[in-house]
Parts: sequence; structure tokens; C-alpha cells
Amino acid sequence: MAAPISPRPLHPDTRLVQAGRADPRALGFVNPALVRGSTVLQPSCEARLESGKRRLDQALIYGLLGTPTHFALEDAVAEIEGGTRCQIVSSGLAACTIPLMAYLKSGDHCLMPDSVYGPTRHFCDAVLSGLRITTTYYPPTIDPAALTLLMRPTTRVVFLESPGSHTFEMQDVPALALAAHARGAKVLMDNTWGIHFFQPFAHGVDVSIQALTKYVGGHSDVLLGAITTAAADDWERVRTTAMAFGQYASPDDCWLALRGLRTLSVRLYHQMESGLRVARWLASRPEVETVLHPALPDAPGHAIWQRDYRGACSLFGVVFRPEITPLSMTAMIDALKLFGIGASWGGYESLALPTTGTIRRSVSAPLAGPAARFHIGLEDPADLIADLERAFTLLRRA
Ligand SMILES: Cc1ncc(COP(=O)(O)O)c(C=O)c1O
Repeated sequence: MAAPISPRPLHPDTRLVQAGRADPRALGFVNPALVRGSTVLQPSCEARLESGKRRLDQALIYGLLGTPTHFALEDAVAEIEGGTRCQIVSSGLAACTIPLMAYLKSGDHCLMPDSVYGPTRHFCDAVLSGLRITTTYYPPTIDPAALTLLMRPTTRVVFLESPGSHTFEMQDVPALALAAHARGAKVLMDNTWGIHFFQPFAHGVDVSIQALTKYVGGHSDVLLGAITTAAADDWERVRTTAMAFGQYASPDDCWLALRGLRTLSVRLYHQMESGLRVARWLASRPEVETVLHPALPDAPGHAIWQRDYRGACSLFGVVFRPEITPLSMTAMIDALKLFGIGASWGGYESLALPTTGTIRRSVSAPLAGPAARFHIGLEDPADLIADLERAFTLLRRA
């Protein structure tokens, strides 16, 4: 269980180094041990019965209920997110779907931002709908009064994702959380973009979701999710649901995530600076209409970012001028040598991907022209800009 490790609040960078290491089971080594296993031997039948009653207490009962490696990562993430406790699951997507299953039952209603991560939307449309759970997609930049109008007596969950990971709309999290709570709904937030830079619980969120796959893993070799709650009873609900689905993760992946945490801050700050440098270069180009990077002063949602965030990760969008042809934009991306074409983000390598943003129910995506998403890795930003400059010669006007 996450316990304060200093009487004075530690800087978040220090917490990344310390969190999850205060476990005597680490046997004196710097890092928590990697423990693989299914069966845990108990000293007696009575001890086994007793341990079974402590399923919520980090008791060592069975591999699917956690190993010291899982518990170390859960403690660390809970502390970094500023929450009470955390449940590790097998992917970022599972970290979105498990809490939805924990709070919604047949007949309930859920509010989702129209900018939500595609597979989360798919879960609502393909699975929740089959359980007679209704989803309304709301404009992500909705104001709290309009959100209240969309709430029904059966609305149990207001889901937030800020910014949207393709179209980068910033949400006014504290205001929306207040409106949701006033009507008795839980606030679940996908905080993957805000990792280390946004404290969800200080802004009214009940359940924070992290795809640890991204910057925490940091090397594009781990799939992992974390669900952290503000309140202990919410954590029990989430953990009970995760256990009921047999949801956990490999201890090897937890161990890699623990290792990733220790260098997260240097990678993130470095990638933030490089990302901003590339984003500013893109913003200066005549072919570009808007750069959707919340930390840029002219970007949509900048005021919210400035108010609530300590920094920005290196994932952002670019909207080209409407006269740039979509075909020439994809040719430009194909021609990039230092950017991979691939989903995901948060690794050490730069990526580029066309953005569609077409699946919308409430408002259209804020894309006047063809658009792309960039993730900036740990390469030298001048090299990345030179690569872009060369590929930009392929952009054509209609
Ligand atoms: C915002 C967001 N949330 C959740 C996920 C899911 O993470 P995972 O790939 O680990 O399932 C992603 C993956 O791209 C994402 O971008």
C-alpha cells in the first residue's frame, strides 16, 4: 500500500526514483525483485484459509492476485498519480474497460468524450451496448452546464480523456468533475497524456487510467495499464472487477515498467523540449494550418493546459492547410526516414501517423485539412526537423 516516504512533500521527480522501492521483500537490492509464479505455498491449511480473506491486502495468495513485483509497481503508480491505491492490468485498454465494467450495469448510462481513444469507443459500442448500457458521446470541450444537460438519472460514469490522443482537445477537468459529482456520477479519466504532469485527483477525478505502455515503459516493448483511485472503496471495486475477469499482467512487464519509472522524468522533459522545438518548426511552415500542441500559446486549449499542467509530453497533432492534398500528406509521411509509421507513443523513437478523426457523433473533429499525429522521441530534434523539411517538399496543393 502506498505510504508517504517523507514527512515533507517530495518533488514528483524524486518520487519517480523512490516510489515502490520501500519493500522489505526487495532483500536489500536497489530494485524490487522480479517474482514470477502462479502457486504460492502456504505453511498450513489454516494459513491458506486466512490468507484467502486478505485478497485486498497485497497478501501472497496466488500469482493472479499479485506478486511482490506487481505490488511494488502498484504502490509506485498510486504514489506518482497522487491516489490511494492502484490496480495493474494487462494493457492500457484494459485500464479503460475494467473501471467501466466496475461502475456500469445494465440500464446505466455513460458519457464519453467524442475524442476518446478509438478502442475505448469500440468497447462502448460493441460490448457495453450489448449489456444495455447506453453511451452518449459529448463534445470534448463541452462546458459543465451543457454536460449537466446530457446527464440522466442513470448516468453513472462521466469519462474524460484530456487531451484527446488524436485531436488534442483539452478538457476542463475540475469543472466537468464538479458537474458530474453534482449528479452522482463517477469521473474516470484516461490520464496517459498527462503522465507526471497532471495530478488527476487534485482536479476532482475519481479513477485515473494510465497506459503504462507509453512513456512509463518508454521503450515500445511493454503492454501494461494502471487504474488508480482516489478512494479506497473505489479501489476495492476496481480490484474486485479486475480479479473477477482474471485480469492482471506479467510480472516481467511490471518489472520493466518499474525500471522505466526511474528514468521517466529525464526522458519526458527531454522529449517535451524536443517536441516543442519540432512543433514550433511545424507551426512556422506555410503548409501548416494549426499545430495541436496544448503547450503552444496559440494552440486550442492552451489556457487549460497552462492552468492545470506542469509540462507536456511529446505527442501532438498537425493540421495542414485545406488545400494540401491528403495523398501528398501521406506521401510526405512515407518519405520520412527518422519517423516510424506506427500506432502507440511514449517510446524512445519518433513516429508519424495520418489522423482521421472521422468517427464522431456530437461534433466534427477540429480538422480543417489533412492531419497527422507526431510523437517525438529521443533523436536530436535538428535531425528530425531536417527529415521533415526534406519530406515537406512532397506536399502538394490541390
Ligand atoms: C490515450 C490512450 N489510452 C489508452 C491506450 C491503450 O493502451 P494499450 O496500447 O496499452 O492498450 C492508448 C494506446 O494507444 C492511448 O493512446
